[in-house]
Amino acid sequence: MSAARPSASRRTVLWGAAVTPVAGLGLAACSASGGGSSADATPTAPVELGAESEVAKGGAKLYRDHNVVVSRSADGVLKAYSTICTHAGCAINKLQGTTLVCPCHGSQFDALTGKVVQSPATEPLNELPVKTAKGRIVAGPDA
Ligand code: FES
Repeated sequence: MSAARPSASRRTVLWGAAVTPVAGLGLAACSASGGGSSADATPTAPVELGAESEVAKGGAKLYRDHNVVVSRSADGVLKAYSTICTHAGCAINKLQGTTLVCPCHGSQFDALTGKVVQSPATEPLNELPVKTAKGRIVAGPDA
């Protein structure tokens, strides 16, 4: 009657062996800054990010906890993008001016447009709906 158990535990071992080297390589860099356990998630519902006044014209603000960056064009239009890197899915944790820098392989994105400015990523960031409500920025699907 013990046939099922070794089979199950072998699968567990194989799974662990497959996952561990990945965590040891790329993800160590991603989590080094304490980015949090929600690193692979973008909002699936509208989330309130902060005061509208936090994002100046021509500027951007990174909301790491929600994996969202919000930027404002020179004429005042807000944009929001997921900060899950389109290269291999790391959570981008650095914003220099209006340039987002991925910690995993160095891709860079323009927070004002979502476009790639430095490879290896080739796809732009996913744009999210964004609006303001009572002076607060709300972003995410159906925002
Ligand atoms: S996952 Fe961002 S550069 Fe590779």
